Amino acid sequence: MHILVTGGNGQLAACLRKTAPAKLSVTYHERNTLDLTQREQTHAVIAEIKPDVIVNAAAYTKVDIAEKEKDAAFAANEAGVAHLAASAKASGAYLIHISTDFLFHGAFNRPIDESAAVKPIGVYAESKAAGERALMASGTTGAIVRTAWLYSEFGANFMKTMLRLGKEKPQLNVIADQHGSPTYAVDLAHALWRMVLSDKKPGLELYHFANFGVTTWYDFATAILRTAGLVTPVNPILTHEYPVATPRPAYSALWPKKFSAAFDFPIRHWQAALQDAVAAWQSEGASS
Ligand SMILES: NC(=O)c1ccc[n+]([C@@H]2O[C@H](COP(=O)([O-])OP(=O)(O)OC[C@H]3O[C@@H](n4cnc5c(N)ncnc54)[C@H](OP(=O)(O)O)[C@@H]3O)[C@@H](O)[C@H]2O)c1
Repeated sequence: MHILVTGGNGQLAACLRKTAPAKLSVTYHERNTLDLTQREQTHAVIAEIKPDVIVNAAAYTKVDIAEKEKDAAFAANEAGVAHLAASAKASGAYLIHISTDFLFHGAFNRPIDESAAVKPIGVYAESKAAGERALMASGTTGAIVRTAWLYSEFGANFMKTMLRLGKEKPQLNVIADQHGSPTYAVDLAHALWRMVLSDKKPGLELYHFANFGVTTWYDFATAILRTAGLVTPVNPILTHEYPVATPRPAYSALWPKKFSAAFDFPIRHWQAALQDAVAAWQSEGASS
């Protein structure tokens, strides 16, 4: 089986590299060799590789800057997905596309399953919702996997920011009134490989994938520092005390039972996954 992974320079792609089953032949393309905003290039690369499965780990992910770069966000996250889906359909590839918990700005108070209505707010969330719609309208076979609060030893993410600031600053202020599901991107990568290898590839399916458990950024930060043996004090603050360009959902924890049942895939609690993530970051040299 031949697999194409887009966004080869990103955090999730790094986790897919780390966990790829040896029996699979996997080609990773970075933006400079496969730019999803370029329809002809996207089509040509897929026509040449003829992958059985495409994992779309590429996205415009600069959440706050997106407010000033609406065209770029939609070019990658909506038009790019449409180009990819059309090319996948033409070559007969199954397309696994990654989406986000940022679609859920609503009055939720328990983990959100696939039946919930989306309510995206802000350019990034709106562009990701548009990408889902483009994929659904394309008629290609594939799956949308929504995930949340991704972190790992790779790329730029909340865990690494806390570990860096925890060493640099005398104390940290972290938001305590937003709830979500921290998800180790390595666990997501394992789950995606399970999906790739599964015989269950229906027409088009929607899944939520996150580590189990619900927490706040404040409690997550505290757990990160404690796990790494750092004693930097963390102060809880409220959302309005840390203004950002794009509003974040107040509650966007995802409920991944459908994925777990469909692929017979055990999902860990976020606290167990965090132990492995911090250990991996420490063994990578904890340099970045
Ligand atoms: N990170 C999170 O907390 C989070 C949470 C929920 C869902 N997600 C979703 O999970 C997926 C993976 O996220 P991630 O954390 O791995 O993000 P990431 O580290 O920012 O990786 C995304 C990659 O996509 C590439 N890219 C951007 N525009 C592109 C284009 N037009 N064509 C091809 N590649 C392009 C970027 O290239 P450059 O390196 O050149 O910029 C980057 O390497 C995304 O769909 C994201 O929306 C992420």
